[in-house]
Amino acid sequence: MMRTAGQDERASLNVSGTSSVYGVWGYPVKHSRSPAMHNAAFAEMGLNAVYVPFEVEPALIAAAIDGVRALGICGINITVPLKELAAACLPDLDPVSQRLGVVNTIVNRAGNLTGYSTDGPGFMWAIKSLGWPASGQVVHILGAGGSARAVADSLAEAGNRLLIANRTRERAQDLAAQVNKHFPGQAEVVAWGTSVEPADLIVNTTSVGMHPNEGDCPPVDAELLRSRPRVYDLIYAPEETRLLSNAKQYGCDISNGLGMLVYQGALSLSLWLDRPVDTIPVLAMEHAVRNTIAAK
Ligand code: ATR
Repeated sequence: MMRTAGQDERASLNVSGTSSVYGVWGYPVKHSRSPAMHNAAFAEMGLNAVYVPFEVEPALIAAAIDGVRALGICGINITVPLKELAAACLPDLDPVSQRLGVVNTIVNRAGNLTGYSTDGPGFMWAIKSLGWPASGQVVHILGAGGSARAVADSLAEAGNRLLIANRTRERAQDLAAQVNKHFPGQAEVVAWGTSVEPADLIVNTTSVGMHPNEGDCPPVDAELLRSRPRVYDLIYAPEETRLLSNAKQYGCDISNGLGMLVYQGALSLSLWLDRPVDTIPVLAMEHAVRNTIAAK
């Protein structure tokens, strides 16, 4: 009988009384690709560890955090809608999480919990892994939600100039103000859809074009694409959004968001295991995520 990727992953899990436990919290959490991705990494590294999903009601976040200490869980990832709530409950936050007020990673060091935010740094690793310049660039950011905040913060920290456009202009203004609070003068708001300010890199952080709305495309002026900026779309399903295929036709270098997903996970693993990021098996992680997409 043919086996699916999911069955293969389950068959390879080997849990014992000495296994280290990691997990992801979300509400809901069943869509998360993190268990497949992290268990693949543990298997590839030959570690006796397991990564499981937990559906955590927002009202119970403080109890869940106490549970990490009580149960000796080694590390947790946190996804929507719990990132801000968890940050508010943790005694110790890394500088990125302090600026953003969100965490996506908890590290348990002998009962001392620290919150980190690896989404923005994961984006930076992703673009560097493509060989794209990561500083001194003019970056046009489409969107002003949670993902945009993470990406904008890391891009600004690395010394890039940001042009932020969002359907709801006030949110773009809020985001620019937040960036400028920490990195003065690096962010400004531009018009959604009609800006032709030249950019080196365009980053789509909106959900426009995501499955099942593959036909949609965020408005990007053709004038802007003609100067052949690099284009990064945080969406990875579909693999090539309409924005990316349009940009490709103008000769732009393009990438979908798989790299950011994998590297935010690799950075969590690097923190949990206290190992350099370049020792984390990102190819096995990417392969596992691709399998979850293909299985849908
Ligand atoms: P995430 O955490 O993934 O960033 P979010 O915080 O809900 O999610 O933000 C979604 C982003 O996609 C926002 O920038 C949103 O624009 P608004 O602030 O105007 O809502 C953008 N977005 C979602 N659907 C959109 C659409 N149909 N057209 C334009 N922008 C859209």
